[in-house]
Amino acid sequence: MARTFVITGASKGIGHATAARLAAAGHRVVGLARTPPADATPFAEFVTLDLSDGAARTPVFAELSGRLEVDGVLNNVGVVHPAALEDVDLADFDRVVDLNLRVAIELTQAVVPGMKGRGWGRIVNTSSLVAAGVPHRTSYAAAKTALISFTRSWALEFAPFGVTANAVAPGPVATELFNTNNPPGSDSRQRYIDGIPMGRTGTPEEIAAANCFFFSEEAAFVTGQCLYVDGGSSTGRAPV
Ligand SMILES: NC(=O)c1ccc[n+]([C@@H]2O[C@H](COP(=O)([O-])OP(=O)(O)OC[C@H]3O[C@@H](n4cnc5c(N)ncnc54)[C@H](OP(=O)(O)O)[C@@H]3O)[C@@H](O)[C@H]2O)c1
Repeated sequence: MARTFVITGASKGIGHATAARLAAAGHRVVGLARTPPADATPFAEFVTLDLSDGAARTPVFAELSGRLEVDGVLNNVGVVHPAALEDVDLADFDRVVDLNLRVAIELTQAVVPGMKGRGWGRIVNTSSLVAAGVPHRTSYAAAKTALISFTRSWALEFAPFGVTANAVAPGPVATELFNTNNPPGSDSRQRYIDGIPMGRTGTPEEIAAANCFFFSEEAAFVTGQCLYVDGGSSTGRAPV
């Protein structure tokens, strides 16, 4: 059955790869980002929008949810603002919370009533391995951990309505976001690579595969979960 999915941060990286996989399976995908994608083929519709602009995004979410029967959402847009604790700028902290968390709440609020009414829905939140704790990620790791918490709360709220909520926590994936915050030759990049048992970064397509499992018809009984897709990075570090 062809369904309709909305993806934030869809112009490149993990969001784009997820759109491509959904479109290849015959689904309709609406993408949002500040700039149009270099490859627009996966999208039925693409909205260019700065999602950090609260006044601009609210009417867009309302218009999309009013016009379309949205079946699934990938809350994927994010920003990092790396800094040692002593250097954390609280205005940047607010920006990280706004883009990673408020956008996810607002978009999900817009689409979930329709999903509940139709008795089918899928929310997938892009968390991160940084939820385990990483230096210089006070703001970002807090936000990504909160997305796991959102997932668990929403799973319980939505379960009676056939709507699932799950999270995917990628390890390092060599996208623009990762390369900008961990430039080649940087200590943080080396630290990330050294911590990956598979000895390589992941690909956006490998994260997209996990997202699309949670979006699938077959995943109807899976909710409240966080799947680490990280080349083994999170394994062997904490008690079961
Ligand atoms: N890469 C990793 O290692 C990794 C690991 C764990 C989690 N993640 C998470 O995965 C998600 C996707 O990141 P990615 O690695 O795929 O990065 P990416 O390739 O840089 O993609 C980020 C996407 O977000 C869009 N975007 C950024 N700021 C935006 C804004 N203000 N308004 C609208 N769109 C905006 C970008 O498009 P425009 O620039 O055109 O706006 C782009 O489509 C993020 O939440 C990130 O935290 C990534």
